[in-house]
Amino acid sequence: MTIQWFPGHMTRARRQIQDKLKLIDLAIELLDARVPLSSRNPMIDEILQHKPRLVLLNKSDLADPEATKRWIEYFAAQGLQALPIDAVAGNPSREIIQRSKQLLSAKIEAQLRKGMKPRTLRGLIVGIPNVGKSTLINKMAGRKIAATGDRPGVTKGQQWIKVGTEMELLDTPGILWPKFEDQVVGYRLAATGAIKEEILHITEIALFAMRYLVGNYPEALKERFSLESLPQDPEDTDAVVAVMEEVGRKRGALLSGGRVDLEKASIAILRELRAGKLGRISMELPEEVLEFQGTDLR
Ligand code: G4P
Repeated sequence: MTIQWFPGHMTRARRQIQDKLKLIDLAIELLDARVPLSSRNPMIDEILQHKPRLVLLNKSDLADPEATKRWIEYFAAQGLQALPIDAVAGNPSREIIQRSKQLLSAKIEAQLRKGMKPRTLRGLIVGIPNVGKSTLINKMAGRKIAATGDRPGVTKGQQWIKVGTEMELLDTPGILWPKFEDQVVGYRLAATGAIKEEILHITEIALFAMRYLVGNYPEALKERFSLESLPQDPEDTDAVVAVMEEVGRKRGALLSGGRVDLEKASIAILRELRAGKLGRISMELPEEVLEFQGTDLR
């Protein structure tokens, strides 16, 4: 799904989430484990104010476990608990409830001290399009929740979904926008499939992904596409394009006359990367982001 975000949409999306903050005990921020910061809304701290927050690194089945471990440390250093999940194959409900209770333990204990029965925890899932919000809501609900207008600014009546006996979720997630100003963020999101191709050119996205793979996952790349050797320098565009052409030849992406159809080759490369055929690959590491952003961690 592609959403064209305009300033009006952003303002409305933000206001909708802020209206819901009054109703909830905690926010559940869903990120893509392969690109946690690129899939994060740039204003999230401001939007969620001081609401207790649990960070979920979804699609962790597709992410490099080593990188995910480093991301968990990265978030912990910022005082945020991050939990890797797989909303498709796993059922993270129990762990989410347990972590939420930990996060809200002071409030729960205060209720117990007053002799009150702790209230059901109320949560709101928030995240940018395609991180898996609906998949997670359906999984936690144990049934398919009717799709709503998944567009910024489209609302319907508010409903609570029971997750076991201890938690309730708002049935519509808070939809946020990604950080557009940064071109690398756009490419990372496009490479992982969060942004559809119309916005960026498919060969550019595949070139970006291929450079990253040459630099960070050369063995996985060689193995998947049976490549003998790879360029030494991922910045060497001609050499990286030559690898894309070689893959294209192997995948039968040819034009009449036998030349490689680079667009078709790009589609094949991205399809296989996104489906996890090259193994578990993360496209962003905390140290790269810190280097890129200087001292500004957010
Ligand atoms: P959204 O509500 O945040 O927009 O996301 P949604 O649940 O629609 O999920 C987007 C795509 O991501 C879906 O694939 C979904 O199956 C997939 N997905 C969600 N969680 C996980 C996960 O933990 N692991 C993996 N591997 N995939 C996950 P789709 O319907 O095929 O859509 P698309 O791939 O065509 O975008």
